[in-house]
Amino acid sequence: MNKNKKRVNLSSDTSNVIEKQNSINRIINESTPFDVIEAYKATRTNIMFSLNSEKGCKKIIISSATSGEGKSTTCINIAKTFAETGAKVLLMDADLRAPRVHKYLKIPNEKGLSNVLAGFDALDDCIIRNPDFNFDCLTSGALPPNPVELISSKAMQELFEEFDKRYDYIFIDTPPVTIVTEAVLLSKYATGVIIVTRQKYTMFKLVDRAINSLKFADARIIGFILNDADDRYIYGSYKSGRTRRLSRSRYRYGRYGYYAENSDSRKYASAHAATKKQEPKETEKPNN
Ligand SMILES: Nc1ncnc2c1ncn2[C@@H]1O[C@H](COP(=O)(O)OP(=O)(O)OP(=O)(O)O)[C@@H](O)[C@H]1O
Ligand SMILES: [Mg+2]
Repeated sequence: MNKNKKRVNLSSDTSNVIEKQNSINRIINESTPFDVIEAYKATRTNIMFSLNSEKGCKKIIISSATSGEGKSTTCINIAKTFAETGAKVLLMDADLRAPRVHKYLKIPNEKGLSNVLAGFDALDDCIIRNPDFNFDCLTSGALPPNPVELISSKAMQELFEEFDKRYDYIFIDTPPVTIVTEAVLLSKYATGVIIVTRQKYTMFKLVDRAINSLKFADARIIGFILNDADDRYIYGSYKSGRTRRLSRSRYRYGRYGYYAENSDSRKYASAHAATKKQEPKETEKPNN
């Protein structure tokens, strides 16, 4: 096979390129550099144009092929950028395995999506309307033992019907497509899916696999975002196509190593060890 064919030309549309952010807090705020803010605004414009013929509430899934490509960060920043237009926006953390939205926004997560889906709490008791943000937020809630069951339940469908009445846009943070199935399951409710890729990290064959899984479920992929981009590579002559030198299992499964039962034992062991070390509480079963 021609080597060049393997290279994915994600940087050709520079309007969906989010540059590397050096600050520890990657959630946009007053001190975020102008070019990063502008990149999110350009992404907002592109999303609006791709969905302009759609009526009613637009539900947009943010996902990626593997772990750690910047889904949660991007999802929060896009929700924030959309809310600035005065639109009614909900940010929903549908990653019921390694949720991050509440951590990045520094908000509580005692109750959330899983609690609503399981029928333990009412939606209005779980939605966070923080005066610091101009959007509503539904965090993941307690980590359930059965995320797939909850996501594919009738309750999920009913929740989306309720959201239709309340919001103009819903941005849904999901786990990676090639590791677990929730993003694909949710795609049947979504207006579109955005795939986040990360420069010098994302591997083409995994993006390809993610696209195939989403297409198989008839999901509408509305675009790609190139995250953590280095403009030397975008605007210069980046030709190498090399990925960051990480162990393949750690790179691919990241926080989801625990769930990678189908990987071979060596990969599983190293991924599990890596995630266990980073976040012992998250990988524990719920109700602990
Ligand atoms: N543009 C960026 N520049 C620098 N660092 C970034 C950028 N985007 C994300 N990061 C950092 O990369 C890490 C992973 O980001 P994030 O949690 O958003 O990824 P994710 O795809 O949601 O991961 P997971 O698959 O584990 O849910 C975080 O530490 C985040 O702060
Ligand atoms: Mg995430």
